Amino acid sequence: MTTPSMLKGARERWVRTGGVELCVAELGDPEQPTVVLVHGYPDSKEVWSEVAARLADRCGFHVVLYDVRGHGRSTAPQPLRGGFTLAKLTDDFLAVVDTVSPNHPVHVVGHDWGSVQSWEFVTVGRTEGRIASFTSMSGPSLDHFGHWINARMKRPTPRRVGQLLGQGAKSWYVYLLHTPALPELAWRGPLGKRWPKILQRVEKVPGDGYPTASLPSDAAHGAWLYRDNVRARLRRPRPDAYAHAPVQLITPQGDAFLSERLYDDLDQWVPRLTRRTLPAKHWIPRTRPDQLAAWIEEFVTAVEGGRPEPAATGRHAERFGGQLVLVTGAGSGIGRATAFAFAEAGARVVAVDRDAEAATRTAELSRLIGAPEAWAETADVSDEQAMEKLAEKVHRAYGVLDVLVNNAGIGLSGSFFTTTTDDWRKVLDVNLWGVIHGCRLFGARMAERGQGGHIVNIASAAAYQPSRALPAYSTSKAAVLMLSECLRAELASQDIGVTAICPGLVNTNITSTARFTGVDETEERRRQKHSARLYSLRNYPPEKVAGAILDAVTHNRAVVPVTPEARGAHLLSRFMPGVLRGIARVNPKL
Ligand SMILES: NC(=O)c1ccc[n+]([C@@H]2O[C@H](COP(=O)([O-])OP(=O)(O)OC[C@H]3O[C@@H](n4cnc5c(N)ncnc54)[C@H](O)[C@@H]3O)[C@@H](O)[C@H]2O)c1
Repeated sequence: MTTPSMLKGARERWVRTGGVELCVAELGDPEQPTVVLVHGYPDSKEVWSEVAARLADRCGFHVVLYDVRGHGRSTAPQPLRGGFTLAKLTDDFLAVVDTVSPNHPVHVVGHDWGSVQSWEFVTVGRTEGRIASFTSMSGPSLDHFGHWINARMKRPTPRRVGQLLGQGAKSWYVYLLHTPALPELAWRGPLGKRWPKILQRVEKVPGDGYPTASLPSDAAHGAWLYRDNVRARLRRPRPDAYAHAPVQLITPQGDAFLSERLYDDLDQWVPRLTRRTLPAKHWIPRTRPDQLAAWIEEFVTAVEGGRPEPAATGRHAERFGGQLVLVTGAGSGIGRATAFAFAEAGARVVAVDRDAEAATRTAELSRLIGAPEAWAETADVSDEQAMEKLAEKVHRAYGVLDVLVNNAGIGLSGSFFTTTTDDWRKVLDVNLWGVIHGCRLFGARMAERGQGGHIVNIASAAAYQPSRALPAYSTSKAAVLMLSECLRAELASQDIGVTAICPGLVNTNITSTARFTGVDETEERRRQKHSARLYSLRNYPPEKVAGAILDAVTHNRAVVPVTPEARGAHLLSRFMPGVLRGIARVNPKL
């Protein structure tokens, strides 16, 4: 018998097992692959509401959530002590899946303590054949954790001791939860009342979106999850805790409770492991539901289809696999190389250029290289209306961007007095206004979505190196650099990073298309050829700039000079600007 649930559109039923009654909610078509979402501490199943709705409505899965014993509307065991052991939690899980999906193995997804207990489910013999895959976030296996500690105690190199101390400091709350009565008192008192506000401030979990109905009793009962299991299992980890299903590990880089290093040895326990990282804090089911739903869908679909799980290795693949990335000026040079680098990392790529053919070629090659999806779009970044149309189409057809790369730009060389107002307008329209349009139109939707993102603006070393030859170009790039800094400050509170990339001389087509002012056509062509030769002799490949861009996004860097000369000039501009001014005065070509 099922009844309507507190989760919008869900059917609810009760499953009796081991002296407790579990409240189970279901969404979507039971004929489709079943995804079971297991919540953490101190949450109830409602913590998954955003992810569950996406998995059922958009991905078409049969989604099952249940309140862990003692949480939400499930009843608590009596007595509490000894009622929350991993063995009993495994009994509950099996009772739920036997009810909701008796004939097919299920895909388990766990967060926090939901993940800790799901590691037990996926490593014990009696669940073999009942689990098709496991997606783990922010909750390690206690067995693997125990072995991780033992390995570091046995061979304590300085690095390993640092790792132990680092995780030890992050586990402060675990010690507190082992104290008698104190956690219960705190949760039923001031902590319980202030918890949503704390989460809102620290984690940016939307305050009204965080389910609090059963919080004090969830938190008080949940303390037994720790007391019944942690010490005992860490002291005596099982020697054979191997995963019998493929595992997708999603690691938020800013998790205050768990060090990323905890998962260093995981490959030895999990034969089929896909790693993902996310620039986020701990409560990702609330703060990053779009990204989680996309990764779960990709993983479950691959396993169901008998295909290899996606992007199992590679630093950039962990971070960008499945993300939506748009690159302007993607038809050539740095833009094309950047589109390819994201494609190789498994991102979905939108290649934009004013040259339709070049954009199409980039999209085609991106698919060949590894992008699960890639599209070409034609737009002139300096044209506001064209950019509005582009943004409208991208948001409607492909979604909100995870990464925007404002790369399109043109070169212009010539002294100030030979540069006409028309020349100024052209270079500012593309190099500065193109970036402004991109940031406004795509950045606004990123901010509105509230799930983070990153904007990369391609400036240049010319942004901080004065020059007699490039007054208009350098001004446009200096403006891009400062715009990026200002925007970075403004968007930091929304978890949107902004980076300015400042390359030096890079071997691309820009030299043959750059305009030279104050000279006739023949001289302009001669100079174009000359600088093309110079750049090809310098021979710094755009692929290296692309690599620097992916690194900068991964580490959320503010300003990144690329090429040795750009790094040198950056240092001089900060500590010895007089030297750069002197070079600019004596060198008419710089
Ligand atoms: N190559 C270098 O040495 C160097 C150094 C520093 C900075 N940069 C900057 O890097 C960026 C990329 O330059 P590149 O060297 O790869 O040049 P490139 O000429 O090889 O590629 C630029 C691409 O942008 C496109 N584009 C130009 N104007 C456009 C517009 N209005 N709308 C849409 N697309 C447009 C072009 O069609 C081309 O495909 C530019 O912003 C440039 O200023 C280049």
